[in-house]
Amino acid sequence: LSIQRGYALFDFLRSVNSIPLFLPGHLDRFFGSADGLHLTVPYTRDQLGAVVQELIQRNGIDEAGIRLMLTGGSSPDTYHPTTPNLVITCLPVRTATNEDFEKGLRLITYEHQRELPHIKSINYLTGVWLQPLLRQQQADDVLYHSKGLVTELPRSNVFIVSKEGSLCTPAAGILHGITRKKVLELAGGLLPVEERAVALEEIYNSSEMFITSTTRRLLPVREVDGRLIGNGKPGSVTRELYRRFRELEEGLRAGGPDR
Ligand code: PDD
Repeated sequence: LSIQRGYALFDFLRSVNSIPLFLPGHLDRFFGSADGLHLTVPYTRDQLGAVVQELIQRNGIDEAGIRLMLTGGSSPDTYHPTTPNLVITCLPVRTATNEDFEKGLRLITYEHQRELPHIKSINYLTGVWLQPLLRQQQADDVLYHSKGLVTELPRSNVFIVSKEGSLCTPAAGILHGITRKKVLELAGGLLPVEERAVALEEIYNSSEMFITSTTRRLLPVREVDGRLIGNGKPGSVTRELYRRFRELEEGLRAGGPDR
């Protein structure tokens, strides 16, 4: 059903020094996505966690990307889900560098709302389809918006620092990223945090903007639709949150307490 109807879901996490990063959050989301698509994961949460750990060990890749995929299964009538197929892969992964951070991203906006946004389905049709437009516009990525509100990027969440000095991130119509959640936690005490609707107009006037994802961590946005965000350089809040995030990761690398 995955190939025939695009009916499947996945989750993606990475390992740091052979330790799966934020595994509990990823497992929660994987099981949540399966539930959302009415599919049953053929393992318990603990079993699946152990499988992920073993896969990392056996592959011997310290910094790996682990992809858990669950499909609608082999369907005789090519429509109704049967017993899901579970596939887990472990491959070397490239993460964003400090140079990527300093450079920041150029985004363009595009009106689109992902289907069943809270589910990490395999549907990236619009995102992949937009690639030629991105190349033509010399943009790094696209920011989706719908009915005047921004939501997320095809593979990342978005944050702004508002003119009033709060950290704001859309709450609805999005996939709840694991990196997003960690950044919200790390922002505690630094500045007021608001999970709320963010208007497209507001982002153009924001003083800082950044995106989050498993492979990109935090990356500043320097330009949206040709308009500069702040002074086009990584802002102080973005920089401090990035520092805290790297510190959290380094703590895990050094065998610190879990996530
Ligand atoms: N993308 N929104 C969407 C639609 C995503 O697919 C992702 C993840 C995110 C960020 O979530 P997280 O912080 O948990 O990675 C937000 C993965 C990395 C991908 O498709 O490659």
